[in-house]
Amino acid sequence: MKWALVVGASGDIGEKIVLDLAKAGWSLYLHANTGGKRVSKLIDLFRVEYPKQDFLQISTDFNDLKQVENIASQLFTLDALIFAQGTTSYGLFSQSTYANTAKIMQMQVLSPLRLIQLLESKLAKNGYGRIIFLGSVYGGSGSAMEVAYSTAKGALSAFTNAYSKEVASLGITVNVIAPGAVDTKMNSAFSDSQKSAIDNQIPMGRFAVPSEISYWISTVLDEKAGYLTGQTIYVTGGWLK
Ligand SMILES: NC(=O)c1ccc[n+]([C@@H]2O[C@H](COP(=O)([O-])OP(=O)(O)OC[C@H]3O[C@@H](n4cnc5c(N)ncnc54)[C@H](OP(=O)(O)O)[C@@H]3O)[C@@H](O)[C@H]2O)c1
Repeated sequence: MKWALVVGASGDIGEKIVLDLAKAGWSLYLHANTGGKRVSKLIDLFRVEYPKQDFLQISTDFNDLKQVENIASQLFTLDALIFAQGTTSYGLFSQSTYANTAKIMQMQVLSPLRLIQLLESKLAKNGYGRIIFLGSVYGGSGSAMEVAYSTAKGALSAFTNAYSKEVASLGITVNVIAPGAVDTKMNSAFSDSQKSAIDNQIPMGRFAVPSEISYWISTVLDEKAGYLTGQTIYVTGGWLK
């Protein structure tokens, strides 16, 4: 049986990812930070629907490196590692604090990279390990008012370029799925008029729904996708990239 750790299973895209993977027969470690209740409910549902698979909850704040390092000892086997956690903050970079930039980098870049170091040997065991990051179109194009977030997402793509070359011989692939705008709680601060202004810029004319992103996670996890590595795949409805 294959095992995946989904970091950010308590998020809107993360939830859709775990729904797809549970249905496809995966056993899962479901991570949450503050959204433990949402993940517990999913686990209760999965245990009824998929009694032959296992589902375990992991609670960690990715701003706390010690907690992140502790995850490694909680996993006994691992085939795929998916990072679907992330938050942004809006404002001019010149007016943002160093602490805010450091938090974004710790949670979205430094903690994941440390966890990967600790889990590489586990992912190498079966010869087809998978690492997938949720990046962003902003990691490629950059966004004013979200400079630290754009920098973090760009760093994930740069890490993917380099690290994929180190671990290809272990059978581990490393890729980024980089959405444009997705209709999730991350964008709940937008008013209807702000949302429709963004709709007007997107060639597809609308935000994605989470299933249009989770589809690409399942596709990259497929054993037949084992020759794809080191890539950032932009899923943006034609927007920006
Ligand atoms: N929505 C978009 O338009 C969009 C576009 C491009 C890329 N993305 C990326 O897609 C991913 C998922 O976003 P989403 O739209 O599904 O957002 P979401 O619904 O707001 O989910 C955010 C997730 O990040 C987790 N998280 C927040 N702070 C954390 C921390 N300190 N430690 C660990 N986990 C933490 C949350 O955990 P808790 O809820 O448990 O605290 C939650 O699972 C993110 O990487 C995001 O950058 C989203």
